[in-house]
Amino acid sequence: MNKGAVMLWLLAMTLLLSACNLAESGPGSREKGYVGISMPTKSSARWVADGENMVRLFQEQGYKTDLQYAEDVVENQISQIENMITKGVDVMVIASVDGNTLTDVIQKAHDQGIQVISYDRLIRNTPYLTYYATFDNFKVGVQQASYIEQRLGLKEGKGPFNIELFGGSPDDNNAYFFFDGAMSVLQPYIDEGKLVVRSQQTTMAQIATLRWDGALAQSRMDNLLSAYYSTERVDAVLSPYDGISIGIISSLKGVGYGSNAKPLPIITGQDAELSSIKSIVAGEQTQTVFKDTRKLAEKTVEMANSILQGQQAEVNDTESYNNGIEVVPAYLLDPISVDQSNVEKDIVESGYYTREEIGLK
Ligand code: GAL
Repeated sequence: MNKGAVMLWLLAMTLLLSACNLAESGPGSREKGYVGISMPTKSSARWVADGENMVRLFQEQGYKTDLQYAEDVVENQISQIENMITKGVDVMVIASVDGNTLTDVIQKAHDQGIQVISYDRLIRNTPYLTYYATFDNFKVGVQQASYIEQRLGLKEGKGPFNIELFGGSPDDNNAYFFFDGAMSVLQPYIDEGKLVVRSQQTTMAQIATLRWDGALAQSRMDNLLSAYYSTERVDAVLSPYDGISIGIISSLKGVGYGSNAKPLPIITGQDAELSSIKSIVAGEQTQTVFKDTRKLAEKTVEMANSILQGQQAEVNDTESYNNGIEVVPAYLLDPISVDQSNVEKDIVESGYYTREEIGLK
């Protein structure tokens, strides 16, 4: 090859390589930026949906993404975030496994100029969160408890009824908001004796469920049923999350609930996970709180856009979420209480699941 041909060949190769790079990262992504998305676990359907929605939306807008799941192991999440910092992401979206463990790694991100959005769960003990995108977590608890209140007819003075309480993971800030919201409705009825917690387990320390684990909830329910309900019936169970509700239902069915003679109690939940929506349609779980992950993903993408364009994102709460260091500016979306009566309207018509998926004729 003469010199001219070599030059031409080199030019052609360079063009080819840059075309490949562009294809790998998606159109326009190099201009727009690189987003690291760290999610807690794939074992719950909602986080899979959250991750997929965000990747889709970010890519549609021309961003490159790196999505990682930590399988509920703190060390995995820290090393995945460290990797994202090394790869040079511009902004990070994190839903923590344990909200108390990310102080150092977020300091590292900050040192590299990377801004962090806390996603759904508030990360604690760091001054370096730019925004928090979530739902109105106190309201979630209020909706679960108000559902129990309404179904039991407590406002009309009915009772006393037996109830047992379940809490979320003690390392998740949200768990306390759900619990406080629920107790703001239930506590007065407990005080006047219209709701009776036979186990007397009413504090977060007593009712929490580490990592929201349904199997743990199932075995706690087994213990409660055998210790306090051999002759009494349980009328309602406050459950903060669908995975926990499914565990509780298994336990109840194990001792004969779910028949005409012994109907299941009222059982709340959260997340509108497919298995729980099917369970509601089938008449087992009674209620869930629908938090549309598509909307949360949209809000988060808006926040990341603002950060990368040096603008302020829209927030609607600058008071409620103190992470131990400072109040983090937040956008709270509205949760929706769902039972058999509105599953069609709020879940099917909104396109979240199809009728076939959830077992509706
Ligand atoms: C919480 C979240 C709930 C539920 C739970 C278990 O942080 O707000 O919607 O998903 O974790 O994953």
